[in-house]
Amino acid sequence: MSIIKTVSTQPFPDQKPGTSGLRKKVKMFQTPHYLENFVQSIFLAVDGLKGSTIVMGGDGRYFNREALQVIIKMAAANGIARVMVGKGGILSTPAASCVIRKYGLKGGIILSASHNPGGPDGDFGIKYNIENGGPSPEHVTDAIFKQSLNMDSYRIFEAEDLNLDKPGETQLGTMTVQVFDSIIEYVELMESLFDFRKMENLIRSGEFSLIFDGMNAVTGPYARAIFEDRLGAPEGTVINGDPLPDFGGGHPDPNLKYADQLVAMMNSQGGPDLGAASDGDGDRNMILGKNFFVTPSDSLAVIAANAHLIPGYSGIISGIARSMPTSMAADRVAESMGIDCYETPTGWKFFGNLLDAGRVTFCGEESFGTGSSHIREKDGLWAVLFWLNMLAEKKDSVEGIVREHWKQFGRNYYSRHDYEGVDSEAAQLVMEGIRKRLPAMGGESLGGQTVAMADEFSYTDPVDGAVSTGQGIRIIFQNGSRIVFRLSGTGTEGATIRIYLEKYESDPARHDIDTQDALAELIAAAGEVSQIHEITGRDAPSVIT
Ligand code: G1P
Ligand code: ZN
Repeated sequence: MSIIKTVSTQPFPDQKPGTSGLRKKVKMFQTPHYLENFVQSIFLAVDGLKGSTIVMGGDGRYFNREALQVIIKMAAANGIARVMVGKGGILSTPAASCVIRKYGLKGGIILSASHNPGGPDGDFGIKYNIENGGPSPEHVTDAIFKQSLNMDSYRIFEAEDLNLDKPGETQLGTMTVQVFDSIIEYVELMESLFDFRKMENLIRSGEFSLIFDGMNAVTGPYARAIFEDRLGAPEGTVINGDPLPDFGGGHPDPNLKYADQLVAMMNSQGGPDLGAASDGDGDRNMILGKNFFVTPSDSLAVIAANAHLIPGYSGIISGIARSMPTSMAADRVAESMGIDCYETPTGWKFFGNLLDAGRVTFCGEESFGTGSSHIREKDGLWAVLFWLNMLAEKKDSVEGIVREHWKQFGRNYYSRHDYEGVDSEAAQLVMEGIRKRLPAMGGESLGGQTVAMADEFSYTDPVDGAVSTGQGIRIIFQNGSRIVFRLSGTGTEGATIRIYLEKYESDPARHDIDTQDALAELIAAAGEVSQIHEITGRDAPSVIT
């Protein structure tokens, strides 16, 4: 006989979701009742879950399977009618969004700490996605947090662990558990957007090669199914393609620092024509050409400018949205197309309303996130397929496409400097110091340039009027250059200060400068205005992207 147990508990004070769900150390999630409290808070705070169908799965990181078993049993005890679970507990963030939308589900629970390292000493995370397939907006995460502060018990079904490796259905009390293959669902969606025949012809022509780095995280199996099985790329095209609980000891963040194996391949003699990587849960992407790095901000702009070449986007592009710190390259494309460009706070959740209202087709963030109205999450493999389809159409190289783009629109030199694991108080001091200077900054000269305006970014959602304040400090110069300061909302250790730097250059004769050199004056100005080195004791950023 199986029974539903009610377990007494006490609230934890720190279950406030950040930029993307609740992220903590694995050890924290293993603290008795910690996981259960947060999951029960979701079941209590989200309206209408009783009797509904939701999807579940994760990026395969350490604690994924254990947590999933607990959450399934809690779902059964909380009146959920049906859960769809990714085979093997595997479900990329974009695949979750795809399935929620395709089957009209109530929502989904995704287990991931995205690009943060995994393993027993690494990070774990949970996010709840709503019925549009996207991350919970702030009023939902606020309600979950409020609920978590009032927990005194949770409900769980007492049963044996389920077999999550075999597709099929089983019953857990009144709830049906359906194990399904999310790869099939995801590939089908991609086939509806891109010209698979053209991409296959390019790959089979023998004149083009690509490498995809799964970074030992969730996208490997999806990428193999698409590039190797469906598009005919040779075996071995997908490297680090098996999801491992500790990501092979790596840091599954697709950037020039952490995807160093891929970068070395792309920079080697006779290297591949296209290189790409995705992160822990499959929503980020990095695009590389031979010896060439495409900044995520440029990628968004190039994608929007070439949308007419791609079957799924050959109609009308309604608009573009980018997060505030993302470079303004996309704005120039929007202007030339006569469409709107929206500037939102950092985090994909802010794109949801714009996409639902049909106001935008493409969205992007400088943090290696690109996506479109096809789902409500950023989508790593989608971006790679977009580039591949573009390459098949344009018969040009990655570098060639980007250089053409710069020639037409100008180049937005762009870089982000991260100071990770900084003492939290020191980080607050840095931000406070800049904040104090803001009112007097307009008209001031900084690093040889005059400040046009400086403020703390706040956003009013044009669809539902929701206001989000304190979304990063920005200094905008008269020549259009920008410096933005923000504290990360996804870290789990101390604080991370992010400095975003941008400078526009219209003259093609000046499009070949090393990015850090082009931004040198802004970098110095950022150091001066923030006193970051003096206050934190750090003399350089820990990561530059
Ligand atoms: C970071 C990125 C942000 C992205 C988020 C989730 O958040 O900067 O653009 O949406 O990860 O992938 P942050 O740590 O800056 O709060
Ligand atoms: Zn991610």
